[in-house]
Amino acid sequence: MRAMTIDLRSDTVTKPTEGMRRAMADAIVGDDGYGDDPTANKFEARIAALFGKEAALFVPSGTMANQIAIRLHTKPGDEVIIGEGAHCMHYESGAAAALSGVQFVIAGKGGLYTRAEMEALVRPIDLYLPRTGLVMIENTHNRAGGRVFPQNDVLAITELARAKNLALHLDGARIWNAHAKSGLSLDVLAKPFDTVSVCFSKGLGAPVGSVLLGTSEHIEISRRYRKQLGGGMRQIGILCAAAEYGLDNHLKLLVDDHARAARFVSLMASCDGYKCDPKSVETNIINLEATKKHPDDIVAQALKEGVLVNAEGGSRVRVVTNLGVSDKDIEVAADVLRRAAS
Ligand SMILES: Cc1ncc(COP(=O)(O)O)c(C=O)c1O
Repeated sequence: MRAMTIDLRSDTVTKPTEGMRRAMADAIVGDDGYGDDPTANKFEARIAALFGKEAALFVPSGTMANQIAIRLHTKPGDEVIIGEGAHCMHYESGAAAALSGVQFVIAGKGGLYTRAEMEALVRPIDLYLPRTGLVMIENTHNRAGGRVFPQNDVLAITELARAKNLALHLDGARIWNAHAKSGLSLDVLAKPFDTVSVCFSKGLGAPVGSVLLGTSEHIEISRRYRKQLGGGMRQIGILCAAAEYGLDNHLKLLVDDHARAARFVSLMASCDGYKCDPKSVETNIINLEATKKHPDDIVAQALKEGVLVNAEGGSRVRVVTNLGVSDKDIEVAADVLRRAAS
């Protein structure tokens, strides 16, 4: 690998900036196990207010936030309705089955789904059938290429779920991107759901950290579940300060990330080594379908020229714009990936 690289594997590869490191160093901290960390307490209250929820809990990862939510809303044997390729089902090491004893049923195709597709999966109450316990939406949807879940579908799905007394969780690891793209406020995006998980370690550039949001009762129980999962926290003000710095300084930059992704896909449109519909690129994730070469060969070739991307199974090459990538980097990376495919 060259010394200078352009890392487009994910929006999790960013390193804390100087300003973020300073904010971390300056954070006033205490032992969160005693409720004594003022920075964490202030941060959790601020994030709860931002999303219009009663309470918030800092957790180390989006995975832990999602898994606590699944446990909160379900009983062993329940079914969870979810979109295809959802992170919770695909990338969390089977945790939902291991920790909560639930199984997933997939609504629709490609990650986004409709009210009718959800309705078809809701089980009638019957001793022989699993109970439908929870409905989940991922917004933006990672494997669907950062697509924003259409708000009219969110409202239709959640209205029906409410009518059927089903719990609702939003995996909002990239809710910031959905907000930046749709212009909808964070509380509007969160409102239809009982619980919401959000990540600060992706587009906002923090080194670690997610938050679970819900009612005060949800969060009180979640604090116990977090402990049971080994997530008892101490001087987390340092981490909350990083997350807060990302919120205050990097949220506004996501539109630039999205513009760079759009520029990248427009540069690839004329390359006959890939297929990609520019209209499908709504935020910062680009899925290219390699048509001539195996994705592993493309990834290896690009790496030799200092551009890091991922092969994602099948013919897919995944490219993700992030805080550490400039306009110039996009031009260079597009050039490298065009050559790598031919
Ligand atoms: C949609 C989505 N949810 C949850 C997660 C889990 O976050 P973490 O890696 O912090 O566990 C990710 C991670 O990429 C994600 O993309």
